[in-house]
Amino acid sequence: MTRRDARPLLFVVCLLPLAWLVYGVLADRLGANPIEAITQATGLWTLRLLVLGLLMTPLRRLFGWQWPLRLRRMLGLFAFFYASLHLLTYLWLDQFFDWGEIGRDLLKRPFITLGMTAWLLLVPLAMTSTRGMMRRLGRHWKALHRLVYLVAPLGALHFLLLVKADWREPLLYLLLTAGLLMLRLPRVAARRPLRG
Ligand code: HEM
Repeated sequence: MTRRDARPLLFVVCLLPLAWLVYGVLADRLGANPIEAITQATGLWTLRLLVLGLLMTPLRRLFGWQWPLRLRRMLGLFAFFYASLHLLTYLWLDQFFDWGEIGRDLLKRPFITLGMTAWLLLVPLAMTSTRGMMRRLGRHWKALHRLVYLVAPLGALHFLLLVKADWREPLLYLLLTAGLLMLRLPRVAARRPLRG
């Protein structure tokens, strides 16, 4: 793993949820409510990819591996990709681009407000993910990309607010996100010096 580049493999793996959804639509295998199934799958994959992205730096710290850092950008971009599909499903298939209704939803349903905030915060990250932008923004790039520390908990909170009965899954994502962010606190990070 250290010598081989895992990115082509990750690229294919990240496309599998989309392939599964396309197959589900074409083969009519998404159940009684396909729109709900698409919303749920794209929302969950956004959150999983955000959490995986946050895991990369602690993995490097704990084990001294270099490869996790090289995967971060692709994980982030795929998170944005699935978040945008998730948003599009809501705007198009759920609300039929009824902007009045969407505006009311944004004001009245806190989970929609949080989801939209999380997506909006992902936009500048995706737009500045290229090496060129990294060079141009210099030290500001790193500061800007710290926004991802807000996006993941907002996404998990969005999930927590929308569930009606079983809180276990969103709570698990919220705790995972909180744990991964706490590992970045200077005091905690200093306890485990960088290896390699
Ligand atoms: C980073 C951004 C986001 C993340 C991580 C995220 C994540 C999720 C997750 C995990 C679910 C629940 C899936 C399940 O039930 O198994 C969900 C559902 C949903 N999300 Fe998002 N979401 C995001 C942004 C948005 C945005 C921008 C909108 C719309 C403005 C939105 C609207 C919805 C809706 C309507 C549902 C379904 C609610 C229901 O089942 O009643 N989300 N999202």
